[in-house]
Amino acid sequence: MMALQLRLLHLAFLGLGTTGPLVQGRGFHLPTVAWPSFFDFTRRQEVQETIQIPKNGSAPLLMDVQVFVSNVFNVDILRYTVSSTLLLRLSWLDTRLAWNTSVRPQHAVTLPWDSLWTPGLTIQEALWVDWQDQSPRARVDSNGHVDLYLALTTETNCDFELLHFPRDQSDCNLSFYALSNTVLELEFRARVVNEIVSVKREYVVQALKTQVPPQQLVPCFQVTLRLQNTALKAIIALLVPGETLLLADLCGGLLPLRATERIAYKVTLLLGYLVFHSSLVQALPSSSSCNPLLIYHFTVLLLLLVVSTTETVLLAALLARGDLRAENSLSPAPRRERQDRGDPGPHPEEVPRVKGSRRSWAEAADRIFFLVYVVGVVCSQFFFVGFWMWATCKSHPAPGKAIPHGGQPRL
Ligand SMILES: *[C@@H]1O[C@H](CO)[C@@H](O)[C@H](O)[C@H]1NC(C)=O
Ligand SMILES: *[C@@H]1O[C@H](CO)[C@@H](O)[C@H](O)[C@H]1NC(C)=O
Ligand SMILES: *[C@@H]1O[C@H](CO)[C@@H](O)[C@H](O)[C@H]1NC(C)=O
Repeated sequence: MMALQLRLLHLAFLGLGTTGPLVQGRGFHLPTVAWPSFFDFTRRQEVQETIQIPKNGSAPLLMDVQVFVSNVFNVDILRYTVSSTLLLRLSWLDTRLAWNTSVRPQHAVTLPWDSLWTPGLTIQEALWVDWQDQSPRARVDSNGHVDLYLALTTETNCDFELLHFPRDQSDCNLSFYALSNTVLELEFRARVVNEIVSVKREYVVQALKTQVPPQQLVPCFQVTLRLQNTALKAIIALLVPGETLLLADLCGGLLPLRATERIAYKVTLLLGYLVFHSSLVQALPSSSSCNPLLIYHFTVLLLLLVVSTTETVLLAALLARGDLRAENSLSPAPRRERQDRGDPGPHPEEVPRVKGSRRSWAEAADRIFFLVYVVGVVCSQFFFVGFWMWATCKSHPAPGKAIPHGGQPRL
């Protein structure tokens, strides 16, 4: 490709050279300044020959890449980004740089990177890349073997699979492209070395892989990081409070329906849960597909708490209304007496026989509801555990997936 470009440039200048005399033959004098620039170019071309990609006959130049992953820090699931520190070791053979050791008895030299050909690398997923050495030096030995080390820190985008958050595991890709070359000129052979020493992390790197994706127009290699969430924090901060509130709500069902504390107890639980729920929703990431199962779990929990509170309020209201009606139908004397004593509610021993039926009806309904509620809660928990074990989710394919990198833009 590069050779072709050079040839084209050359042809363009040849064209200039041939049209020049033709035009001259018609009595037109080409500006003399045009000739020195042409000679300048040929001289520059000679000088720049070593910064063109080395040729390997008809085969592409083979470049060995070793990727040392030294740190993966700051996995941000809310922003879907990973930050990592890598060291790349690029080695290739450039015979134009070789020398005869009996003439120059030096085993190896270091050269500034811009005095020889080096590949320009671009990371497809990167939000930013910080190449730590702005002018790295390449080591060249007498046979022409070139070694170039590049250290970089980068923040890359990664589509975490958070369905099983906080027990999630995701594969994050870093795709390195040499955009100024084609696959006919350059081929990567990549290897990855795990040099991470730090384990005090929320997310740890479980595995590292490299691959050279097939059918690309631009030389490319990919490093895949498998990240595993090992944090207990989410379990302690999210699951335990949620389950405790549910248990407390179940226990609230054991309080007698007549006790006024029961409504207060249930409403307090519901309020506490609402506060917890809103902070939880902010702490969990959300996406267009495969949202964490925990979001659904906590929403079901909220519905359960609302149902149980509503039941308590409704039955207590029914009961109170029944009491009131029964009291009204009684002789006014005991009522006034009771008011004198400053007693707001009827004592169980004073409850007359007439409202006994309504009362026992409400209490029986409450007991039945309690049983149904307990069964419902237990079932929902088992259902959730089962769903957690078996559920898998396949994210929608990315819209740009079908187009290979460097392909024709589609209109
Ligand atoms: C040239 O290509 C051949 C065949 O692919 C390969 O074995 C050899 O290592 C390559 N040489 C260089 C300098 O890349
Ligand atoms: C290196 O230089 C010596 C002395 O000039 C010469 O004899 C030898 O053939 C050269 N070797 C190569 C590989 O060019
Ligand atoms: C990473 O790259 C591999 C191979 O190209 C691909 O199958 C996989 O879907 C990629 N993963 C992500 C998260 O993009």
